[in-house]
Amino acid sequence: MSAEKTMLSPVRLGAYELPNRIVMAPLTRNRAGAGNVPGPLNATYYEQRASAGLIVTEATQISPQGVGYPSTPGIHSPEQVEGWRLVTDAVHARGGHIFLQLWHVGRISHPSLQPEGALPVAPSAIAPEGMASTYSGPQPFVTPRALAIEEIPGIIEDYRKAAENALKAGFDGVEIHSANGYLLDQFLQDGTNHRTDEYGGSMENRARLLMQVTAAVTSVWGGDRVGIRLSPSGVFNSMSDSNPKALFTYVVNELNRFNLAYLHLVEPRTNETASPEQQELTCGYFRSVYRGTLISAGGHDRESGNQAIASGDADLIAFGRLYISNPDLVERFAQNAPLNPYDRSTFYGGDEKGYIDYPFLKLQTA
Ligand code: FNR
Repeated sequence: MSAEKTMLSPVRLGAYELPNRIVMAPLTRNRAGAGNVPGPLNATYYEQRASAGLIVTEATQISPQGVGYPSTPGIHSPEQVEGWRLVTDAVHARGGHIFLQLWHVGRISHPSLQPEGALPVAPSAIAPEGMASTYSGPQPFVTPRALAIEEIPGIIEDYRKAAENALKAGFDGVEIHSANGYLLDQFLQDGTNHRTDEYGGSMENRARLLMQVTAAVTSVWGGDRVGIRLSPSGVFNSMSDSNPKALFTYVVNELNRFNLAYLHLVEPRTNETASPEQQELTCGYFRSVYRGTLISAGGHDRESGNQAIASGDADLIAFGRLYISNPDLVERFAQNAPLNPYDRSTFYGGDEKGYIDYPFLKLQTA
């Protein structure tokens, strides 16, 4: 009888053999330099976490229009490609693997962040509730401008070029961010997509942009170096759909044809506003729909991660907040060592504090 698999068991992920099944989840930290360019501080942060089986970077805008927050990195200028090269070299020097998360925020932006103060774009002119994050603090979201159908090929081309830039920057692959209420998710769900053209209405039409973006990105990288992130039960950024189970079952089934490196799913949050139907949309549910490698994210600890691997509900487990405060999370899990608590006040923006100064195990016990 073979030993039970754990998060420390090796795994094949598309083109790669990974030494463990522990993934650093994508985490926006708002610490890029001027021009939305990553630098040595960011390289140190990712290098510290290189023992993860896979690092997925913070969400990274594919175009000047794709930005939605202060000091997030981009992958559309030559300076940004050079900046990311510092990061990928540092992670590779430690034997790690790193995918770049490709991001367009759609309506989750503000004119003050947009080129020439333009309105943010979206599938439909529907404002989210709440406040945008800007360089001058929180400001109410504005009603976005609905993309003209003639503009959509340009958006797909921005994803393709960003994927090419990621290749130039030395990444091992890319993850398409289609979760958490950003542009691609806004197209998928009918609370935000009221279009009457071929990008709105039926599930097939609403999924069209994601499928076209996936085709463009895999044309650069091949399917086995591309992942996709979905949050089928997410309500963040004022998201809703009239039939999320049917929609995401359709989308996941359609993604089968790309033979991707992985599908990355954000698990339903308990004690939150997700409906009973949304609560059913777990990795375990999608296991029967998706014919490839699954990453489960959201609320995991050592025990739940090992359990999801042992039961077969997921192949890899992503950790967000625990990776912020534990650069050596793999070693801590291996030794069942105590974890550093995280400090929310330094999640978004700032400097080295709460970013590259969380202690390593060996330093603590030396
Ligand atoms: C996030 N999350 C996130 N998700 C994503 O797809 N792209 C991103 O850039 C970010 N940024 C981000 C920043 C911060 C500070 C947090 C806390 C979260 C969501 C994240 O990847 C993960 O799904 C959640 O944190 C839930 O996992 P944990 O934290 O319970 O392990």
